[in-house]
Amino acid sequence: MFSRSSATDPGFRSARVKALAKINLALKVLNKRPDGFHDLRTIFQTVSLSDAIDIGFQPGGPTAIEVESSIDIADNLVFRAAQAVMRLPGTGGGVRIHLQKNVPMGSGLGGGSSDAAAVLLALPVLTGRRIGLETLLCLGADLGSDVPFFLLGGAAVGLGRGTELYPLPEMPRANLVLVAPGIHVSTPEAYALLSRELTTDSVSHTINIFQSVVWTMADSRSFENDFEAVVFRRHPQLQLIKQKLLLAGAVCAMLSGSGSAVIGVFEDAETARRVAESFDGYGFPARIVTRAHYRAMWWRQLAAHIDGKVWPPKSRYAE
Ligand code: C5P
Repeated sequence: MFSRSSATDPGFRSARVKALAKINLALKVLNKRPDGFHDLRTIFQTVSLSDAIDIGFQPGGPTAIEVESSIDIADNLVFRAAQAVMRLPGTGGGVRIHLQKNVPMGSGLGGGSSDAAAVLLALPVLTGRRIGLETLLCLGADLGSDVPFFLLGGAAVGLGRGTELYPLPEMPRANLVLVAPGIHVSTPEAYALLSRELTTDSVSHTINIFQSVVWTMADSRSFENDFEAVVFRRHPQLQLIKQKLLLAGAVCAMLSGSGSAVIGVFEDAETARRVAESFDGYGFPARIVTRAHYRAMWWRQLAAHIDGKVWPPKSRYAE
């Protein structure tokens, strides 16, 4: 095993990167597909809560990937993302990754997906592989439905299983409180519960509602998440958290993804900070991170290893 600093040992090309969390500002589930996934309509938005990843690559020799994490994670997506990159043509060598988890797991905030996307963005740059966005998005979708979004960041509409993404105009600055009460909601279970209540007739109606939500985004009161009905029934505490956020002055509060995190949108930063504190260790103040800021953050993090400011970040080590 190795320490956090050994990913930055001499001889290693290394970077310390942030893997941001996301929220879903609207989430409508349409129908179950033959491949077992559900078609959905969602608005993804990157937010400032983040995991920290130290990633190092030493060129030469056979490929060996070591991952260490501050919390034990079964079937860590970070490892699978590194394998996916190293399988592509290019220089072999040693990959060391240290993951510091801060985004609560099983909370619908996309922490694991973002960690995987961070490796898909950083490792090609360190190894000298130039991988086009199309290939990166495919690798991301193979790892999980939320991974491709983190290869783009900002605000985006997600269609299909959530992997078909289109950019939205940047959201106005908002002060968020993310409440993650330590309840693990199983995503497949939440989809299965919701699936039972879906009817073919409701699909076009659901699409109409989603379309109006996107066109009236300035009014955040219209945001809705279809998972609330089934997840709140199973975990009534989460509905109480939503009510507490609304009583504390949130202009809108809702479940993120399939939960268990509940998000509140507040008009002023001071109220958001106070409300986050009132949740005794379960509340996190956060702000929206626009696509422009997301890209600028990535270019800064990889500054020593990139060639210009293009997206996705382009390695300066490529032949
Ligand atoms: O893609 P990901 O690994 O995040 O999905 C986890 C599970 O959530 C899937 O196996 C599936 O049961 C469910 N899911 C779904 N429809 C989606 C996304 C996820 O049914 N669009």
